[in-house]
Amino acid sequence: MNFAEIINKKKNKKELTSQEIFWVVNSFVNNTLKDYQMAAFNMAIWFNGMSSSEIANFTQAMINSGITYNLDGVKGLKADKHSTGGIGDKTSLIFSPLVAKFGVKVAKLSGRGLGQTGGTIDKLESCPGWTGEISEEKFKEILNTVGISIMSQSSDIVPADKKLYALRDVTGTVDSIPLIASSIMSKKLVIPADSIILDVKMGSGAFMKDLKSAIALSKAMIAIGKEHKRNVSVMITNMDQPLGRAIGNAIEVKEAWDTLNGKGPKDLIELCITAAGLTLVQNKVFKDLKTAKIELTKVLNDNSAAHLLRDFIGAQNGDFSVILDYEKNFSTKHVIEIKAKKEGYVAFSSADELGYLSMHLGAGRATKEESIDFAAGIYLNKTTNEFVKKGETVMTLYTNRDSIEEFQQKAQDLILINDNAHNEKLILKLLTVDDI
Ligand code: URA
Repeated sequence: MNFAEIINKKKNKKELTSQEIFWVVNSFVNNTLKDYQMAAFNMAIWFNGMSSSEIANFTQAMINSGITYNLDGVKGLKADKHSTGGIGDKTSLIFSPLVAKFGVKVAKLSGRGLGQTGGTIDKLESCPGWTGEISEEKFKEILNTVGISIMSQSSDIVPADKKLYALRDVTGTVDSIPLIASSIMSKKLVIPADSIILDVKMGSGAFMKDLKSAIALSKAMIAIGKEHKRNVSVMITNMDQPLGRAIGNAIEVKEAWDTLNGKGPKDLIELCITAAGLTLVQNKVFKDLKTAKIELTKVLNDNSAAHLLRDFIGAQNGDFSVILDYEKNFSTKHVIEIKAKKEGYVAFSSADELGYLSMHLGAGRATKEESIDFAAGIYLNKTTNEFVKKGETVMTLYTNRDSIEEFQQKAQDLILINDNAHNEKLILKLLTVDDI
């Protein structure tokens, strides 16, 4: 095939055949297509988009570049969940026990954090010994015994996406709906789950800045799922403000544990019971979301799903007892309280910047090579829309690093104190296959 012809076709808004798309992806993976050619191809997609059949082929070609899993021998229904990334987003740690409690197994691949956003694998590794590097057999065994297993995304999974994402990142082509949809879904389709719930974040701290583009991305992903005979639902959620009170690693596992024991922050509970509720409706455990949410709220209040988080962490060699004795195990050299300069309703000028602050405190990594300080992070004593009096603590910073004044200044700059509460909705829209 001739690449110049293919790119001209895309440039002139003509639909590419499946052979052409598979050829481009394969040639890129085996280095016969050069980065500069692929960059031009991505840019043509950025401008002209892709048809749903092109997106489906592109996704399949990417999946074919790596390994896939089978869940043969895992009994019952299996669910998966994905979030496009948020600050303080520990939803998977609460969602998984809630769903497993109702007999639907959660089989998931997760990643590490980079930059301002955290990663589920890093959070779980704050329990010493916990590993996401388990064999397929072990994964299935834990699914059958505990009902939850989370594996780390390895380099064998969709290598085409890894290479492509690195190129998109430096060529201004990350924010393309067909490219984001195929990138996310190729990694989801590697595991044959019966249902997938996607949390598409929208707002200043997210890829999708407005509802129209968030809906377009959601529909593209649901359509890919449909092509692959997977039941995909989406919730579009607000990411202008952080989720819950804890930002970091061990501190987020602790918040997840507290939430499962009926002591969670309101926004986090709402998001988790919506995600879990939609999953249980997808799997026909409940007839509608309203009923599912009522039952899930009962489970949070009677603590009956909490042990599943502990059991799953234990099954993957993690020592959960460190979370039960949190203060002793995760103390830091500095504990910095940031006080309100006046009274009013709290908000944060940027969720993303809170994520960067947490990274600088030691909880995240600026480059892939950096290590993480599991004890570092932020606790929001007052979170969005809560009333604070002058001099009260708005947030507490935990760090072993010595740049205290810099951290104080940065944190203070992020706090907005308003005369009125801004009642922004958290869950902006729900979409299922019936909406495309
Ligand atoms: N997350 C992904 O996995 N891929 C993208 O392209 C964007 C977000």
